[in-house]
This record gives sequence, structure tokens and C-alpha cells, in this order.
Amino acid sequence: MAPLAAALLWVLLLWPHGAGTWREHTPRLRVTYGELLKSNSSRWLLAPGDMPGSQALLLDEDRTWLMVGAKNHIVLLHLEQPGREPEKISWPAPRAQVEHCQLAGKDVETECANFIRLLQPYNSSHVLACGTGAYQPICAFVQLGARGQGPGMRLLSHSLQSGRGRCPYSPRQPFAALLVDGQLYSGTSSDFMGSSAAFFRTEVGGAERGYIRTEQHQDHWLHEPTFIGAFAIPDTHNPHDDKVYIFFRETALDGGQWERRHIHARVARVCKNDVGGKRGLINRWSTFLKARLLCSIPGPQGTQTHFDQLEDVFLLHTRDPQNPLVFGLFTASSAVFSGSAVCVYSMAAVRAAFSGPFAHKEGFDHRWVQYKARVPYPRPGTCPSETYDPLLRSTKDFPDEVISFVRAHQLMWEPIHPLGRRPVLLRANVPYRLRQLLVHRLEAEGRHYDVLFLGTDDGKVLKVGLPGEAGAEAVSLEEISVTEVPSPILDMKLSPKRQELLVSSTQGLLQLSLSRCELYGQTCMDCCLARDPYCTWDGSACTSLLLTEKRRAWCQDVLKADVLSQCQDTAEGMAAVEQPVFGVEKNSTFLECQARSPQTAVRWLARRGEGLGLSEVRSGRRVVVLEQGLLIRQLGWEDAGTYECQAVERSFSWPLIRYSLRIIRHEATELPHRRGKGAESSWTDPRVLGAPGSGSLDAYCTALRLRERQRQKAWQQKWQHRAPESKSSRVRRQPWRL
Ligand SMILES: *[C@@H]1O[C@H](CO)[C@@H](O)[C@H](O)[C@H]1NC(C)=O
Ligand SMILES: *[C@@H]1O[C@H](CO)[C@@H](O)[C@H](O)[C@H]1NC(C)=O
Ligand SMILES: *[C@@H]1O[C@H](CO)[C@@H](O)[C@H](O)[C@H]1NC(C)=O
Repeated sequence: MAPLAAALLWVLLLWPHGAGTWREHTPRLRVTYGELLKSNSSRWLLAPGDMPGSQALLLDEDRTWLMVGAKNHIVLLHLEQPGREPEKISWPAPRAQVEHCQLAGKDVETECANFIRLLQPYNSSHVLACGTGAYQPICAFVQLGARGQGPGMRLLSHSLQSGRGRCPYSPRQPFAALLVDGQLYSGTSSDFMGSSAAFFRTEVGGAERGYIRTEQHQDHWLHEPTFIGAFAIPDTHNPHDDKVYIFFRETALDGGQWERRHIHARVARVCKNDVGGKRGLINRWSTFLKARLLCSIPGPQGTQTHFDQLEDVFLLHTRDPQNPLVFGLFTASSAVFSGSAVCVYSMAAVRAAFSGPFAHKEGFDHRWVQYKARVPYPRPGTCPSETYDPLLRSTKDFPDEVISFVRAHQLMWEPIHPLGRRPVLLRANVPYRLRQLLVHRLEAEGRHYDVLFLGTDDGKVLKVGLPGEAGAEAVSLEEISVTEVPSPILDMKLSPKRQELLVSSTQGLLQLSLSRCELYGQTCMDCCLARDPYCTWDGSACTSLLLTEKRRAWCQDVLKADVLSQCQDTAEGMAAVEQPVFGVEKNSTFLECQARSPQTAVRWLARRGEGLGLSEVRSGRRVVVLEQGLLIRQLGWEDAGTYECQAVERSFSWPLIRYSLRIIRHEATELPHRRGKGAESSWTDPRVLGAPGSGSLDAYCTALRLRERQRQKAWQQKWQHRAPESKSSRVRRQPWRL
């Protein structure tokens, strides 16, 4: 993308929507780490510094245990018994290998140890574990103890085998693995340098037998790939058609003399029953095909801004096992633009690309073109199945023509577009990058609502609601800081049964409730407007839906957010109390009013002079509408009147506070102690305090607010001894709340 176009886009993204859309992108609730601890909605399972480098998580929902792979250790946590000591296995790398690793110039603390990076369930009693083994990967079975019979997890040392082609050598390099039917599919680097990455399948049980992989040193198969996720998805009802899909990003090789390096997001697939070719492609995939995943937004003048850096993939299972939804998390960055996006793909779209035309390199400049010549039979990428052709029982029966075609054609011509052809979520120019993605689908009465949990690179978990209706806007719910100091979220697991999230970061492992309803506010309005599907108004408080009887609950219908009708029985908080304030002529005054949520906008209405209606107050020369309230400089007699601060959200507005401002003559302000001349001028004019940046204005308002409070107190005492006017006597009986 040209820098100018990018700059334009940056501007377009930021500005044209106006404040309304910007507020939608701000979370309803921003929870700091301190507030999180106080809210009692999280718990450290492995405290910061307890078990460094824990990144592999394996959750067993039914048996409620969580296995954690860490540095030189495997830990088993019993989630149902928080008091129980975690079980631990120590599994260091062999001493000789640690020395070898150090001699090769690696760091003894952060690299030359056995970092457990892979934990995959093998059967009901065994888990396959692989670690980096100080740059010599190793795998072994972990046997689980019988249920209820005390500690019993142990490492089966006789099952120790090489982890090459299963687990990376480095503790940090991304990889993807999936163990299914006793076969481990893994996309990983397979050497010390971390340079030759490939997609492997190895047999796990028993003696080490066959393996199969992508062709070596063939850039058109894979070029500098980074693997993100692997999933087994059945294609038809015929089990011979079962496939494994692997998601990754790689450097795309565009031909042409203007060749440029691009990162492209990809999905590749292989048949589970692929055993390689007989004469060619021996021990190589003979059904490996790949296609590009697109996730982009329209830019100026018909261009597209692509999000190509695939960061994470979440497979959302639906009732139809052949058609899960694929949620992809992508980032994009350039000198002037950075952002993250989530795109959703249907398996139908993925399959359509694989059944479409092949891509082909042609001509003197090796440009990619659509392959238009005859495609051999059986169509490359088809899984062998006797059901279709009795002569094709295995990939070894493929004709040579098919094998040589597959050897040269892996890439499909058509890319895969997301549903709706646009991201469901976009975050541009935010101070963090999204790294991890989880989706929780809530279903009720044939409709669904997806909640996205996104882990950032600076220790936050974002919670975003996606109403199931086409075109509905994403609802930004929470932004939770789960670490004391910013550090990347490494992995997240969802436990729908226990209604919690397990979040691992470099700081440790945290258990996090799916909601903190009470923090949304104390009124029905606050609760319902948040549109958090886990929360509801129970008549007296905002509570978790789980804790409430359904029939007593308000605002379960998060899709409608028809707050007024849902909250009409609970009008408390709707009628704002009128508060008197006294301003001194020619001086400044500050009327404080702040919405509870950053998503709520605030508007000021005023009635000045007798018999006039309320009209909106807009910022001007003397009056400034600020996030924190209304600042009126150089008060005059005409400023006296009623000021109402209203919260505005979607189509609703409701009063938050009402002030009746009275002006006191300048001469009547002989207070007991006066400030010096210099101080006076600096207080009355914010420009004196510095440039009109928000920082200095904030400081000014805080100072002004403080001073106002003190002065109001003094004035109240003074005025209580005076003969009240008829209007102010009503006002004065109100409790003083400024
Ligand atoms: C925190 O939650 C636990 C479990 O629900 C409860 O027993 C405890 O009293 C709560 N503590 C506070 C301070 O709310
Ligand atoms: C699981 O696999 C291991 C290793 O092959 C085997 O010894 C064990 O009997 C299996 N367990 C079950 C319950 O099948
Ligand atoms: C305006 O505010 C300053 C600062 O509190 C105070 O010293 C001054 O007396 C006020 N002016 C009048 C006219 O009350």
C-alpha cells in the first residue's frame, strides 16, 4: 500500500464516524489490575514467578483438570479443588544436552532447558507431552492417575522418543500441533537454526514408524511459514474424506520483476489417509493444497487494506460437525497504520476455494496465473476412497500424472473471502496488538450471540459481543488488565462449564470469570445498556445470569437493548436531584458531571432567564463542554439558571444531575482569606496554565473543581445566615452533594 493511501486510510479510520462510533469501540468497562483483584472475579492458579514460561495448556472439562507445560515441569491443577496442591512432574533436559546448548551460544536460563510446549490428549489415560529439550526436542507419555486416588500423574520414561518434527527447538518459535487417531500432525521448524519449517505427520503410539511431510527446500510448498493452528474437520459422511486443516502465514512469492515480499495468511489441507506416493512423493504429502485467507477493509479509491499477519485461529463448533466456523485473528502494520481484525470464514467458502481452479506460475517472469489446462483424474487433493473408485484404495494408487501435478501445484487460484466480505471486528491505532482469540457462543430460542475474548500483547483481555444478526455492530464490553505489568497473553482456554477463562501470560496463570456484572453500575439502565449477555438486572442489582432465576431477570434480550421498556419499573436514578451552586460574577465555575461508562456521551441543557425552555449548551468562547463537566469562565448575570447534564446513548437520554446556578455579585465576595493577585489570574484563565492540551486542561479542571468545593462550602455557611429568596429556600434543603 502506498504511504499516502495508508495515511488517508488512517485518517478515515479515525475521523469520519464521529464520536459515536468511537465510543462504541471504547469498552463499556475498563478494569485495571487493581480493580480486578478487588472484584473477586479472578484468581492466580500459578502465581507470577511461580512457574515461569507456562504456555502449553490442556484443559479437561469433564474431569476438571488443567495441565500446564512449563520450564522443566508439567503441572496438573484440579480446578474443582482450589485448596489441593497441584501435581508436578519434573522433566529437565539431559545434562549433556544443556551443555551442548550452551556451547552453541544459547542462553542457559531462557533457552537451554526443557520447555514443555506440546500437550495433546492421546487416550483417556495418556497425554503426549513434548518439550524443547534444550534444543533437542523430546516427547513422552504422561500417565494420569486414576480418578480420586490421590496424586498419580507420572512421566513414562520408557516412552521417551525424539520430538523432531513435532515440537520446535526454540522455546519461543510459534508452532501448531494436533494429535488425532494416534497420529501427530504438526507444523514446526525441524532444525536447530529454526529455519526449515514443515508440516509433518508422525505416528505416536508404539514403535516409531512412518512419517510424512511437506517436500524439503521447495519454496512453493511452504516459504518461511509460521504455523498457527491445526484442526481435523470431516468433509463428508464418508470417513475416507476426513481432512486435517492447518492455518499458517508465509512469505508469498509473487513472480515478476517487481517482486516484493508479502506475508499471506493461508489454510492448507491434507487427507488423513494420505500415505504419500509410490514412485514419486515417497513419504511426502500427496494431497497437500493451500489457499489464501483474505481479511481486508475497503480503503480510499477502491483499494483494499489487507490484514495478512495471521495471529490466531479459533474453530467454533456448530451442530453440524462438517461445518464449524473459522474465526481468524489478523494484524497489519506499516509505518503509519497498525491494527487488528477478526474475520469469520465458513467451511463452504474454504471448500469452494479448494474445488476451484489451481494457480500456476507461467511465463519468463514467473507470474501467478490461473491454471487453465486439463486437470488430471482423480482431481488432485481428492482423498482416495473405494466408495468412489475401487481402484483407488490408497494415495499410492494415484497415477503418476496426479503425483507430478501435485508436486508442482499446491496453491489454489481463488482466495477465501470472509463472511460478509469484511471483518466482524476492527481495532485500528490502539496501543496494543491482539494476539489470542477465543469465541463463546451463547444460544437461545434459535438465535445466537458470540462473545469474543481477545488477548493483547500488553496483558489485557478484551471482551466483545457479536450479536448474531447480519450487520449488527460489535459491542465492546470489557477491557481487563490481567497482569500487573504489561506482558503478552500467551494462551487462553475457555471453560463454558465452569463459566471461566484460563489465561496464561509471562506473569503466570490466571483464572478469570466471564463477567463482573456489578461493575457496570447500580441502576437497571447501567446494567441493561451494557448489553453483556452474561449479566442481567434482577430487580435490585446487576448480577450474573447464572445466579438469577430467569423469570425475574430483566434485559436478557441483549439483542434489543430496549432499555426504557425493560427498565421502566425501576425508574430510580432517572429523576435527577437539583443541586444549588453559587458562582461569583466574573469568576469561573465548574459543574461536574461524568458518565459512568466511557461509552456514554454527555450533553448539557440549560434554561437561562425566566420562562424559557431547556436548550443545549455548546462549547463557545466562555463555555467549554468537557468530559468531566461544564466549565463556564467569566460568569455573568445571564448565566444564572438551571443546568441539566444528560447521559446519551443510542436513542436514549436520561438526566444524571441538575444544577441551579446562582450568580453572586463580585463585590459581595469578601471571603475571610484572599489570595494574592498572581494566584487569582492564574486560576481564572486556563490558558495561563499552559497549552490547551487535554493534560493541562484536565489539571486545570481538577484544580478548579477542588477550589469550587471549598468555596461552595464557605458560601453555603455564609448564605445560611442570610434571608433566603423564595426559590433558593427550596433548593437549600437538598443535601449538599457536590
Ligand atoms: C469472593 O467469592 C467467593 C466465592 O464466590 C466468596 O466466598 C467470597 O466471600 C467473595 N469475597 C468477597 C470479598 O466478595
Ligand atoms: C492409552 O495408551 C497407552 C499407550 O499406548 C496404553 O498403554 C493404555 O493402555 C491406553 N489406555 C487406554 C485407556 O486405552
Ligand atoms: C475568584 O476566585 C479566586 C480564587 O479563589 C478568588 O481569590 C477571588 O476572590 C474570586 N473572585 C471573586 C470576585 O470572588
